[in-house]
Amino acid sequence: MSDAKGAKQDPAEKARRVKAADGRVYFSYAQIHAAVSSMVPKVKAFKPDVIIAIGGGGFIPARMLRTEIKVPILAVSLKLYDDATNTVGTEVEKVQWFDETSGVGKNVRGKRVLIVDEVDDSRTTLKYCVDEVKKTNAPAALAVLVVHNKMRPKAAQLPSDVEYMACEDVENFWNCYPWDAAAYGRDIYAHEELARQCLKGGNGVNPSGFDAHNKKIKVADGLKNEVEATSLTGSVMALATLGVGLAIGFFAGKASQSRR
Ligand code: G4P
Ligand code: MG
Repeated sequence: MSDAKGAKQDPAEKARRVKAADGRVYFSYAQIHAAVSSMVPKVKAFKPDVIIAIGGGGFIPARMLRTEIKVPILAVSLKLYDDATNTVGTEVEKVQWFDETSGVGKNVRGKRVLIVDEVDDSRTTLKYCVDEVKKTNAPAALAVLVVHNKMRPKAAQLPSDVEYMACEDVENFWNCYPWDAAAYGRDIYAHEELARQCLKGGNGVNPSGFDAHNKKIKVADGLKNEVEATSLTGSVMALATLGVGLAIGFFAGKASQSRR
């Protein structure tokens, strides 16, 4: 898009990030949370009975979603592996599944199911999960939500009857998520700072000036007011403390004068 105003309203432009010095792109908890929240209207329209979170990356986004989509979460874990080389490969291992005969597991067969994961990369494990839920647990309807869809060729395609929701399309870089901060050798505060710098504009404020629902952002103003309110409260407290101190000093002086 050529004109600056138009570019600001382009969703792809809004999500664009710059790489950190190590060539990776860092995401903060707030950025993940905002991306997930942006998809709530679509998820509500799907009307899921249950969420299946693909661990580990899908767990935290699924929990963020559950505050607004009040349905229970089931956990599954899948591992993409290669028998020969013992590295990431082409076959998926089912590490953990759920028991559909008890508890929340009963909400899958014949029900509306939403699968949640953090990133759609090659789509291999996502496709495996979809096929496995369909084959093993026969839901009435199936949808998939990913926080990030990497814009790259996919090794697999999802069936056409599965609704697909990507909170953000991202470039094909390595994404660093806040729950993995220690894996990249940083504490969460350093990680969050890098994430702010990776978001275009580098100051932690969405550069588009719009939130995920395309409403004008008020967050920065709110934050400023909160800080000012806090410092005003602090000043009032300091003045009050000084006043009490002076009063005590004054009366103590009076008392010692009267004793003399
Ligand atoms: P997909 O089907 O969801 O596209 O995933 P794919 O099998 O291609 O990816 C294999 C593993 O690599 C998955 O992790 C996936 O989440 C992870 N991955 C792919 N791209 C990125 C990235 O940019 N950043 C990070 N942090 N991970 C990425 P997994 O085996 O499911 O492990 P977990 O991290 O979810 O526990
Ligand atoms: Mg994952």
